[in-house]
Amino acid sequence: MTDLYRQAAEALKNLTPGVAVTGAGISAESGIPTFRGEGGIWEKYPPDEYATIEAWNANPDKVWKFWMEMFETLSGSEPNPGHRALAELEEQGRIQGVITQNIDNLHQEAGSKKVIEYHGNARYLVTDKFGHRERFDPNIHGGDRAPLSFDGTAMRPDVVMFGEPIPSGAMVESALLAEACKVMLVVGTSAQVYPGARLPMLAHQNGAFIIEANTEETDFTHTITHVFLKGPAGETLPKLLDCLKAI
Ligand code: OAD
Repeated sequence: MTDLYRQAAEALKNLTPGVAVTGAGISAESGIPTFRGEGGIWEKYPPDEYATIEAWNANPDKVWKFWMEMFETLSGSEPNPGHRALAELEEQGRIQGVITQNIDNLHQEAGSKKVIEYHGNARYLVTDKFGHRERFDPNIHGGDRAPLSFDGTAMRPDVVMFGEPIPSGAMVESALLAEACKVMLVVGTSAQVYPGARLPMLAHQNGAFIIEANTEETDFTHTITHVFLKGPAGETLPKLLDCLKAI
């Protein structure tokens, strides 16, 4: 066991409560591309054309094509050992739950019980007008055009688009967890998108020990991170779990 893993494991063992914050990197090994960087989703689909609320309102059918590709990617994906390690950390009482920026439902599928979805969940569609929500079904909703709801308006994925607020419940609960935690595990996020990127800062300001797991360094790494575990989350998180069992 290296010193870094020992330090991270000891923090998770001795400091409570703990919480995890995750981003697209944790699902990379489940076959879901990240947003930024080479081969990222935004390279093919520029966010100002496909991911803003203005783009959706201007042309839902155009934006829907992007979502159809996303739905297809998501439907073929399964949780990986990184997701499962977080579920086990929750089961052991080391973390209270996961605050995720991801919209893929994979934490829940891995067994995490407490999952705060900061940017929504793309397995569901909603209507803006009446807030009707239903699970996406390719046989019912699939096609070239955004499906219409019973009220005649286009149904959209239940996700936060750029230009929209974070759902208030998720926003408040995440802030409370971040403020109160004594150890935070920050996994696979580039720390570029706010307000999500503020959560680790908030935890740090309140004295939490920050463990960061990422394949690359981020703006957090040399500022607020105490221990940086470099590598794919599907390898680093199970290793961390093993170290926790060994100490
Ligand atoms: P990004 O795509 O910005 O960053 C992904 C991070 O994961 C990077 O720091 C990578 O180095 C890291 N990474 C890649 N593979 C990894 C692996 N196998 N294990 C661990 N880390 C890995 O994704 P997010 O930070 O999640 O929001 O992006 C935040 C938000 O920006 C998203 O929720 C989405 C996007 O625009 C909206 O669409 C509103």
